[in-house]
Amino acid sequence: MSAHVEGIHAAIIMDGNGRWAVGRGKPRTAGHIVGARVVRDIVEAAPSCGISMLTLYAFSADNWQRPSREVSLLMRLFRRYLVKETTRCIANGVRMRIIGRRDRIPAELLKAIHNAEEATKHGRTLDLRIAVDYSARDAIVRAASSLPRGTKHTIEELQREIDRVYHWTGPSRDVDLLIRTGGEQRLSDFLLWECAYAELYFTDRKWPEFSPVDLEAAVQVFRSRERRFGAVPAVAAG
Ligand code: FPP
Repeated sequence: MSAHVEGIHAAIIMDGNGRWAVGRGKPRTAGHIVGARVVRDIVEAAPSCGISMLTLYAFSADNWQRPSREVSLLMRLFRRYLVKETTRCIANGVRMRIIGRRDRIPAELLKAIHNAEEATKHGRTLDLRIAVDYSARDAIVRAASSLPRGTKHTIEELQREIDRVYHWTGPSRDVDLLIRTGGEQRLSDFLLWECAYAELYFTDRKWPEFSPVDLEAAVQVFRSRERRFGAVPAVAAG
């Protein structure tokens, strides 16, 4: 699916905000505030690393279980980001979109999502997708449930449906490179379908300390990997 599209689709699980803050004697929310600044730096660095689509895991469907103070701070941060970054995104050719459920999103954030998506829709340099209230398994179940019963469906049809139920209207793309910061090595219900052949990259660096240099390093490792998609290396094929 992604093989014909130019540029890398990188996805990032931005983990470690809470631990970063607590390690400095600050409340967890301080990590999210710094983390939001890092988002801007990484978005601006992505095109020069060869990334044409960037999907960021900002809030999972399970994150609603966090203390309400933390949840509302995060919702405010997302809204502020969309409002404040729109002008820069337009200038930099960044098209912003939010993927995930929309039925539980606060009204003010929903409005900011509509405005940011509309205002940046002509961006062609980078497709920025921010996953909010996201669960890969929920998307797959919703997609499968909405396809007509009694007929066979293709992988592409299910993929398009997964996109549709989570409000993605652009072309379907598999993930090329999945990065997780913060030292854990798991997928946490993020893009399970789209990561079928993703290269995985884990770093101990916590999200608030992740920099464009770290992004470049991750892309270098990605470029050094041999992607075979289940086939054998060209040299062994003959
Ligand atoms: C995981 O770290 C991070 C989150 C649940 C929130 C991610 C949010 C941001 C990076 C800030 C704002 C984002 C945007 C798009 C403007 P954690 O808190 O679970 O870290 P921990 O594992 O150390 O507790």
